[in-house]
Amino acid sequence: RVAMSYRRGALIVLEGVDRAGKTTQCKKLVQALQESGRPAEMMRFPDRTTKMGKLISAYLEKKSNLEDHTVHLLFSANRWELVPLMRQKLEQGVTLVVDRYAFSGVAFTSAKPGFSLEWCMSPDVGLPKPDLVLFLQLHPAAAEQRGEFGAERYENSDFQKTVLQRFEQLMKDPSLNWQVIDAAKSIEDLHKQIKTHSDTAITTAESQPIGELWK
Ligand code: TMP
Repeated sequence: RVAMSYRRGALIVLEGVDRAGKTTQCKKLVQALQESGRPAEMMRFPDRTTKMGKLISAYLEKKSNLEDHTVHLLFSANRWELVPLMRQKLEQGVTLVVDRYAFSGVAFTSAKPGFSLEWCMSPDVGLPKPDLVLFLQLHPAAAEQRGEFGAERYENSDFQKTVLQRFEQLMKDPSLNWQVIDAAKSIEDLHKQIKTHSDTAITTAESQPIGELWK
């Protein structure tokens, strides 16, 4: 083992209920990081472009039905199939900004009747551990004011309220660097906060190995 000057990228995850503004903020963060000279790329889960992603996409669009355990495992498999690429990028020094990750996986499935948090977490144990998880907090009433939900599966307010409760349980885990951001703020205010947390996480990650999630 050589004492290295190797500087890996950081794994930064944005989570939150639907319509909290995750995708907008991911894009702005990647752009800001790139402009400040830090290599950064965006990823999103589910990644609907792979074979597994296409099965998931059809399920979300209600073009197909899948058994609940099965679809949970597909979402997890969709993350695992991208792990070699994620590791490669991180090791090359690229910071990954990821729109949803295992936390959405657990929060959404465990919002269904009969699914424990533990069962839902197990297939994702050992994934690359995020250096920062930004949770875009939005009150269900505020989310409702952002207009009608779309027609995809899970897009209804009662289900989303349960999902938020599950996220709150996951946030109690002190082994992860959760940062809760008030998503009711303006796009620019949110972006500034997210950028500040990200800069800190990137600097910290440089001198640390990639961790393993929930292990
Ligand atoms: P999207 O709208 O960000 O593409 O996310 C698609 C939906 O899939 C969203 O309602 C959250 C849900 N989801 C899961 O149920 N499990 C998962 O593992 C992930 C990543 C998303």
